[in-house]
Amino acid sequence: MHRRTLLSLGGAAGAALVIPAAETITPAAAAPGGAPAHHHRPPHPVRSAATGEPFTRPLVVPPVLRPVAVTADTDHYRLDVTTADIEIIPGLTSRMLSYGGYPVNPTIRARQGRRVRVTYRNRLDQPVNVHLHGGHVAAQHDGHPMDLIQPGEERVYEYPNQQAGASLWYHDHSHHTESEHVYRGLYGFYLIEGSDEAALRLPSGPYDIPIALRDSLFAEDGSLVWNQADPFSRNTLLANNRHQPYFPVAARRYRLRLLNASTHRTFEVNAGGATLTQVGSDGGLLPAPVPRTSILLGPAERAEVVIDFSGYAVGDHVVLADATGGPLVRFDVVRRATDPSCVPPQLRPLPTLPPATAERLFVMRVDPVTFASLINDKAFDPDRVDTTITQGSTEIWKIVNGDAGLNLEHTFHMHLAQFRVLDRDGAPPAPGESGWKDTIYVRPGESVRVQATFDGFLGRYLYHCHMLDHSAFGMMGQMEIVPRTS
Ligand code: C2O
Ligand code: CU
Ligand code: CU
Repeated sequence: MHRRTLLSLGGAAGAALVIPAAETITPAAAAPGGAPAHHHRPPHPVRSAATGEPFTRPLVVPPVLRPVAVTADTDHYRLDVTTADIEIIPGLTSRMLSYGGYPVNPTIRARQGRRVRVTYRNRLDQPVNVHLHGGHVAAQHDGHPMDLIQPGEERVYEYPNQQAGASLWYHDHSHHTESEHVYRGLYGFYLIEGSDEAALRLPSGPYDIPIALRDSLFAEDGSLVWNQADPFSRNTLLANNRHQPYFPVAARRYRLRLLNASTHRTFEVNAGGATLTQVGSDGGLLPAPVPRTSILLGPAERAEVVIDFSGYAVGDHVVLADATGGPLVRFDVVRRATDPSCVPPQLRPLPTLPPATAERLFVMRVDPVTFASLINDKAFDPDRVDTTITQGSTEIWKIVNGDAGLNLEHTFHMHLAQFRVLDRDGAPPAPGESGWKDTIYVRPGESVRVQATFDGFLGRYLYHCHMLDHSAFGMMGQMEIVPRTS
């Protein structure tokens, strides 16, 4: 049931590089209903990017998951890790891995200061786990790659939500299989509403829309093609599991929470020249809104933007598009509206950072001879601690993309902490990077310095490239937060 494959790590500019990879797993597991578990499809014929006329089906807004129980301080949820046959290409079904079996995975809406417990039952025939990306959670609830939910078993994850409001996401993090599992669909939004947030009167309720962007490749029969060997062949862009949907809007402000859920592709999002007012990044609200015309999102990065449709006439369209991939979502202005929302000039003050007591260097690179994916010349070993950090300390991490030669992009993600960006190659960070972040895009050859405080929990956490096709092959390290010895 395993087969050897080749992993191409060609850069954005097309450097073709083929590396021998470890074994990959076979396609998705069976649904409880008993569809075939493992079948080797001939790798193609694949579909061309066109999946029919654009803008013929509406955007699917992820359903908000209902708690199964609500106690004084905790909301309890249940989700099955399962499969779902989804109509992504009109007239065909695609078997995806799924949380709960919905057409798009549900959003968990948490509130700052209220605990969430989610019981996940694994109904697949292979181990999974769940990581809350951007979450400040205890190590045993962080979804360590070796800490798995076996088939048929269930597991409770507890999230204290003692952190600021932010657009987080949950996704699989199982050892060596995270990239395939996420590609096949195991990701969803987890939104924490800050206790201070309602007073800001940002667009909310039906005007607050999470949109997960990704690339994908489909066979002629509609099945999703997992081609880790060639991530650049993924020719079909999806927004919430649909290709080029339309979304009817009122002529007023909307808050869009954009997530790049791809395992490899970077997006550069624009609205055809219309202003995207960025109000948030990975770790929540920015200190002040930043008007943008284009936003770069590496894998796992998030941006919250407000688009104001009030200047448009009924019948007008605004297209959210990727710089190279074309239209993602078309917003169709269908009615006038009064708009009680606003975008205040100040959103959330940023605290002064405590002084750093250590500076560390992390170099991400692919070895040009062995093609191993490395951080500081080492491939991930779950039994090795790479970085030991005293609880409560503040550190500066210099993150280097060592792949100028191979022209490879990377994104660096740190578990446990939200960080602040100090500089990029010594220059001030981009305006949308002035707030809290947990993932940072690093161009070929670039260095980024970030500062984080490691407090609250002890134990082992990960940091890695969030191009999961890289981290699954070793571009991941482990830190251990240890008690302060007085
Ligand atoms: Cu999105 Cu290690 O996580
Ligand atoms: Cu994470
Ligand atoms: Cu990488």
